[in-house]
Amino acid sequence: MQFSIKHVKPDQLHTACLIAGVFAGGKLTPAAEALDKVSHGYLGKLIKSGALEGRSGQTTLLYQVPGITADRLLLVGLGKEKDFNLQTYRKAMYQSVRALNDNGVKDATSTLPLLAVRDTDAYQRVRHAVEAAEETNYRFDQCKTKKDNHRPTLQKLVLLVATRDELRVAEHGLRDGNAIAAGVSLAKDLGNLPPNICTPGYLANEAHKLGKGGKLKVTVLEEAQMKKLGMGALLAVSRGSRQPAKLIIMEYHGGAKKAQPLVLVGKGITFDSGGISIKPSAAMDEMKFDMCGAASVFGALKAVMQLGLKINVVGVVPSSENLPDGNAVKPADIVKTMSGLTVEILNTDAEGRLILCDALTYAQRFKPAAIVDMATLTGACVIALGNVVSGLFGNDDSLVKELWNAGEKSADRAWQLPLYDDYQDGLKSNFADFANVGGREGGAITAACYLSRFTKDMRWAHLDIAGTAWKSGAEKGATGRPVPLLVQYLLDRA
Ligand code: BES
Ligand code: MN
Ligand code: ZN
Repeated sequence: MQFSIKHVKPDQLHTACLIAGVFAGGKLTPAAEALDKVSHGYLGKLIKSGALEGRSGQTTLLYQVPGITADRLLLVGLGKEKDFNLQTYRKAMYQSVRALNDNGVKDATSTLPLLAVRDTDAYQRVRHAVEAAEETNYRFDQCKTKKDNHRPTLQKLVLLVATRDELRVAEHGLRDGNAIAAGVSLAKDLGNLPPNICTPGYLANEAHKLGKGGKLKVTVLEEAQMKKLGMGALLAVSRGSRQPAKLIIMEYHGGAKKAQPLVLVGKGITFDSGGISIKPSAAMDEMKFDMCGAASVFGALKAVMQLGLKINVVGVVPSSENLPDGNAVKPADIVKTMSGLTVEILNTDAEGRLILCDALTYAQRFKPAAIVDMATLTGACVIALGNVVSGLFGNDDSLVKELWNAGEKSADRAWQLPLYDDYQDGLKSNFADFANVGGREGGAITAACYLSRFTKDMRWAHLDIAGTAWKSGAEKGATGRPVPLLVQYLLDRA
């Protein structure tokens, strides 16, 4: 979609469709009030008639409103004014763009960025408007033969700002919003691709494609090289698969030569059947999304390149399938990780931590300023936090705080769970240094505890995105999270 920013009075605007908000109880926003004035109280009459309540998500499309220069006027409900915040602002953006698409509107102008939204400036409001509009217009139809249905019609959206001064910050919001949306869109595409197409090899090619512009140094390690490095845990997971595992490394150098990089590690299980500890078949198709951590690394790097951020960032993606086979790893197998520690694999379905531990050890060679891993790691995290926030863990309070803040600002929120030593006991093994699983209780935490054993000398944080990386049900699909959080974190460091 094409966005632009303008500083014009809404009642003097020539546009195919103008969007204005109404709060609950029919309270007009300042822009709607101006329109009400030029229409000699037309909107006020509508409210009196009860046709317009301002309920959150409600939209009303009006034609030929007297005195208004725009062809059409879309009114969108904003809910209670006192509850209006970044979340409800974004929701109003989604709803209005959806209504425009439903009505075949091709270009429009939104007054919503003029609104006061708690803790935001014009930069934030424009950026989130762009992200929300792109979110609404996203489609994944690469694998459909008929593509004409449900195509979004909206192609151009003008965002209004209040003052000339705001134009400049709004331009930054536009730039960042476009980059984040491009990163989210890439992460969604990779996540939504079927697992027979999106294999570890496919992701490796995707990395090379991303590196084509010359801004990324891409290295792909093959299984033979992983063996030499002693990556016994990663290789244990890929044993049952015909698709060779890949360790994908993408280096972005935008900062000073000697500046320590931020390292992003993403779980890239392109299909998780559970292996010999096989999963029940219900909803097993959704385990194609088990590479969404990897997808978020690709997405974040895409945005970083588009923005040309002046920092160094390294993406590390361990990728494999997890399948049962005569050659597959078995419960009770003991493997040696790259760190030298031995692990008893009591459950082959706890494969994410196995590929991640070797990737985290490998990542140490970059001497990271901080290392953040993203993984659809545990069903337990979904039970704990649902689909609203990602689970956030770390061994460094300042890093955790930075990521939490990034989540708030980007409307891609995360919430910290504890990593107290008491939880480590669950991983006891009678036969190896420790096991790859604990009991059922606190499963998201024991998984993070397992990872913490490989990151002792680093500033490390872990995002469990099992509940946030994709949606189930009628709107099944990847969400692109936590790309917005990651890009915000990187923007704040750049
Ligand atoms: N990829 C899954 C986690 C998952 C499951 C994410 C369901 C979203 C929905 C992961 O590899 C896994 O299977 N984890 C196990 C760990 C257990 C064996 C300790 C789980 O959560 O059941
Ligand atoms: Mn699993
Ligand atoms: Zn998994």
